[in-house]
Formats: sequence, C-alpha cells, structure tokens
Amino acid sequence: MTRRALVTGATSGIGLAFATELAHRGHDLVVVARTTDRLEAVAEQLRAKHRVEVDVLTADLSTDAGMEAAANALTDTTRPVDLLVNNAGASLAGWFGTTDIADEDRQLDLLVRAPMHLMDAAIKSMAGRGGGAIINVSSVAAFTPRGVYSAHKAWLLNLSRWADVHYDDVNIAVQALCPGFVRTEFHQRGEMDISGVPRWMWLRADKVVATSLRDLTRDKPVSIPSLRYKTLAALARHLPAPFVTRVAKRGR
Ligand SMILES: NC(=O)c1ccc[n+]([C@@H]2O[C@H](COP(=O)([O-])OP(=O)(O)OC[C@H]3O[C@@H](n4cnc5c(N)ncnc54)[C@H](OP(=O)(O)O)[C@@H]3O)[C@@H](O)[C@H]2O)c1
Repeated sequence: MTRRALVTGATSGIGLAFATELAHRGHDLVVVARTTDRLEAVAEQLRAKHRVEVDVLTADLSTDAGMEAAANALTDTTRPVDLLVNNAGASLAGWFGTTDIADEDRQLDLLVRAPMHLMDAAIKSMAGRGGGAIINVSSVAAFTPRGVYSAHKAWLLNLSRWADVHYDDVNIAVQALCPGFVRTEFHQRGEMDISGVPRWMWLRADKVVATSLRDLTRDKPVSIPSLRYKTLAALARHLPAPFVTRVAKRGR
C-alpha cells in the first residue's frame, strides 16, 4: 500500500471521502482544491483524528499555475507521493453549443489537461522510485455519448486503461474510477436538475471510495461501484449507440 497520497478536490464529495478513508488507513496527505479555508478545516480534522501529516495546497486546477503547483508537489523528492487521486471536477450548466466557449475551455483544462499534467508528473516521479498508483475519477458517463462532460470522462477512461498496461513494468497501477450518481455538491454546483433521478441510482461517496481502493488492491484497471452501474455500463457498451444516446439525453 501507499504511504503518502495527493487528492485533488478534497474539500467535498468523493475527494473528501478519499482523503478521509486514506487518513483512516494511515496515509499522509496533500489535499488540493481552490478554497483554502475548507482545505484547512479538512486538514485540521484529519490530523487530529488520524495523527497523519496533511499538507494543504490551494490551487485552481483549471489554470496553468494551479496545474504546475500540484505537479510540483508530485515531483518533490523530499516528500514523495505514492498515490495520486485525480478527482477534482465540476460540470457546466447548459449543453455544448449553448454555453460560453471560454467556460468550455476551463472545463477542458480542469477535466482533461489537469489530470494529464498530474499523471505526467506522477508517472515520471513514481517510475524512478519503484512504483505507485494513480486513481483517475472518471464517470459511468464515460460509457455513454452525453455531451462534452462524458467525452472528457471517456478520454480519462481511455488514457487510464492504456497507462495501467503500459506502466505495469515499472509497478505503477492506474485505475479509472467510474461512479454513477453520487450524493455530493456536484449537481447543485452545476445547476443540474436531479429531481427525476430515482433513489436507487444514488451512491454514497464513502462506498464509492471503498470499492475503488478494494479494486486497486485487486489490480482492476476500471472500477465501477455497485452491480447496478456495472450492469448499466455493460448495456451501454453493447446496445446501439443512437439508442444509448437517446436514453442518456437527460444528463450532461
Ligand atoms: N457526484 C457524481 O454524481 C459524480 C459521478 C461521477 C463522477 N463524478 C466525478 O467525481 C469527481 C468529484 O466530484 P464530486 O461529485 O465529489 O463533486 P463536488 O462535491 O462538487 O466536489 C468537487 C471538488 O473539486 C474541487 N474543484 C472544483 N473545481 C476545481 C478547480 N478548478 N480546481 C481545483 N479544485 C476544484 C472542489 O473544491 P473547491 O470548490 O474548493 O475548489 C471540490 O473539492 C469529479 O471529477 C466528478 O466529475 C461525480
């Protein structure tokens, strides 16, 4: 198992659940997000409860400066990171073609360029130190054509699958975590109407994280928490694309 983890988007939802569970398992942490006071509160709580070291890094990962700061933390040889959790994310209100293209650029930076830059830094650093692990938080949306967000998540899934095989010989495991709907701040922040999502489709962030970490120890390159979403992902892969697109049309 790893000893020091860097978790992006650790102030709420899935990222906070990762930070909490990893601290519980005794990992030191670097927690990254934009909101310093929330990061400090998380760090203080985890230090007090689990007696681990927690470094706070305030960074906007949709900016070059933010990506560079997080990448530097990953290549710092004095405080080596063994596990990267590329989790920070958000959704943009409105469908592609109606949104501001500058906002779409920021989304691309946050959901694609940031994980790419952090993976690059982590792989270069871990390869020289005997290995490590990377968890890329994708989405079950990666299996369905559902606009720009699902395209970004499909990119991350695809890269993760390749990297897991390619870097196996230097002992770096790469997992794409593909959850369905998880109760977090995500939908409210993205002004999504979730009133039509049935209760059975909702997952808990702590359970999603437990599944991901269990699958990591089992060397599973793709982790899809819950049988119901495994089934939906399998259907999405095998049913005709136009049908899947129509069914998925309500989400973004
Ligand atoms: N919730 C779901 O149903 C669901 C399903 C599948 C996949 N996912 C994915 O899971 C990941 C986590 O989402 P969540 O559901 O836990 O959402 P969340 O509760 O809204 O948390 C998002 C986290 O990302 C951080 N963040 C947002 N924009 C950032 C930026 N520009 N730079 C740095 N940090 C930023 C936020 O902190 P600050 O605001 O402090 O920066 C927060 O810590 C995302 O990648 C999302 O796409 C979510």
